[in-house]
Amino acid sequence: MNVKFEDMAARNNIIELKDIGQSYDGGQSWIIKGLQLLIEDKPDQGQFIVLLGMSGSGKSTLLRYIAGLQEPTEGQVLINGQPISDKDRVSMVFQQYSSLPWMTVLDNVALGLKYQGVGKKERYERAMDLIELVGLAGHEKKYAQYPALSGGQLQRVAIARSIIANPQIILMDEPFGALDIKTRFQMQDLIINLWHRFHSTIVFVTHDIDEAVYLADDIYIMKSQPSNIIEHIDIDLPLKRDRSTKREAHFTELVQQVEDTMIRVAGIK
Ligand SMILES: Nc1ncnc2c1ncn2[C@@H]1O[C@H](COP(=O)(O)OP(=O)(O)OP(=O)(O)O)[C@@H](O)[C@H]1O
Ligand SMILES: [Mg+2]
Repeated sequence: MNVKFEDMAARNNIIELKDIGQSYDGGQSWIIKGLQLLIEDKPDQGQFIVLLGMSGSGKSTLLRYIAGLQEPTEGQVLINGQPISDKDRVSMVFQQYSSLPWMTVLDNVALGLKYQGVGKKERYERAMDLIELVGLAGHEKKYAQYPALSGGQLQRVAIARSIIANPQIILMDEPFGALDIKTRFQMQDLIINLWHRFHSTIVFVTHDIDEAVYLADDIYIMKSQPSNIIEHIDIDLPLKRDRSTKREAHFTELVQQVEDTMIRVAGIK
């Protein structure tokens, strides 16, 4: 078969943001200007990308572009080298619980398969497998609402919902922001385990530098006014991480490096 060079190049980039500009006032002022982001595909591994930056630096906006929920004023958003289309397997987890409270946990998790036309028996079986995997067995008949389910449990539902249809890309916008520290640590380990299992590429937004270093392959730091990505930090920790990783000298060095960069970017004296 004759494969053109452009096709090969396109296949290597899972997400590409090219010359992105965002204005909400017809081009008088620019909230984002000249932003570039290239995330290459790593087949059978996926990647964990973390976006860090001050409030208002455009992190959620970038996720909305990649999810196809918003188009930039200028520039191009490419997934697998092509403009976003309905067939792209992209799912999103928000900070606020994004499950449907009028449905049970089981129906929430199985919903993505319903849209794909998977039969009822199979979708319930696959949903139950995932419900067990995220530690919610026994809660499947409950409605997905607070306080019948706690905040951490509702976020587990949202995570199970987001991975059931085997997405190529999962976007997570401060998903653990509202959780207590114990639940947050459990969720960090859950997401690492799920990632090793499903090999999706995850783009994750957080304000927590420890969390960013613990989870990431690569950290991108954003500035504002106008927004842009101005630093890339390669997190060269082993892929397999657990609580002991946080006690290693290199982990502490990386946290310090990220913190110093954030302080510089924010112009804090
Ligand atoms: N519809 C809109 N009209 C005008 N400005 C907007 C609109 N939507 C977003 N913005 C601006 O775009 C900028 C980036 O917003 P965004 O929500 O992406 O920031 P963020 O980095 O996610 O911040 P946070 O950490 O607080 O969630 C902000 O300055 C915001 O005020
Ligand atoms: Mg945001």
